[in-house]
Amino acid sequence: MTKPQLLIDTDPGVDDALAILMAYAHADLAGLSIAAGNVGLGHTVRNARTLVDLVGMTTPVFAGCAMPLVRAPEEDAAFVHGQDGFGDVGFAEPAAAVSAESAALALLRLTRERPGELTLVALGPLTNLALALRLDPSLPERVARLVVMGGAVTGHGNTGKVPAEFNIGFDPEAAHVVFEAFPAFDLVDWEATLRHAFDDAEFDGWLAAGDHRADFFGRIVATARCYNALHERTGLVAADALAMAVALDPSIVTRSEKRAVAVELDGRLTRGATVVDWAARLGRPAQANIVLEVDQARFAAMVKRALGVPD
Ligand code: BDR
Ligand code: CA
Repeated sequence: MTKPQLLIDTDPGVDDALAILMAYAHADLAGLSIAAGNVGLGHTVRNARTLVDLVGMTTPVFAGCAMPLVRAPEEDAAFVHGQDGFGDVGFAEPAAAVSAESAALALLRLTRERPGELTLVALGPLTNLALALRLDPSLPERVARLVVMGGAVTGHGNTGKVPAEFNIGFDPEAAHVVFEAFPAFDLVDWEATLRHAFDDAEFDGWLAAGDHRADFFGRIVATARCYNALHERTGLVAADALAMAVALDPSIVTRSEKRAVAVELDGRLTRGATVVDWAARLGRPAQANIVLEVDQARFAAMVKRALGVPD
């Protein structure tokens, strides 16, 4: 079977790292385009380079926008991911290079070179994708699939604006541009993530049994695990890994619903919320395939392979 061909836009980030390790284990990567989000762009670019070094590949890394499209962000996620986004482990300066080409331009060029071949996986705020779309609105025609980790489809978000999920809340205008431009995409939201957490003890077993990738991930995830334990989030929660599983193999999805989804841009309490037209009352095209359940055993198998756990 041919491997999935991926182009990943990401803000690494601990769960981004696990997702990227999954991509390396199961797919071919055309590039990593980097957004600001979990932490500042300097850290997210450096973390992407650290991952490229870890797996011994030469994947191009493209730096993107340091800021959201319109408004300065109200919060980052350093309190979960660490000040450097990788659990403040203190890795040495990576050797992997940063491309001179900016992320939005790279997204356009790579999809022009390989029209219809690449699955675009968006694991961070959608700033780079939105900018690319404004430069070239025909981008969706050249992408095989778009999978977005973002949103909270019944309002159980994870930010200071209660119904908003982090990736959408960090840059709502960018998410609006992307959600309006793509006629179809898979949406893996925060609430699905919580339903697909891994048992802590089982995950610890994988970390113990895996190779250098498991060792690496065990080090960077420690801060996030402490945060989650203190905030009553049970199990190993890995939003971007779930989205990556859906990108790698859509047949893993066991329940989903196609609905029109829009992004709230204003709202005293709700900026960044993903508003789902569940009853199809507005007559808008149902562009989002909202992933509700996946096969957890198959998801686990993908993660274990990414960590080098023997079969
Ligand atoms: C999303 O926000 C980030 O903190 C994670 O990396 C993930 O992409 C979850 O809301
Ligand atoms: Ca992310």
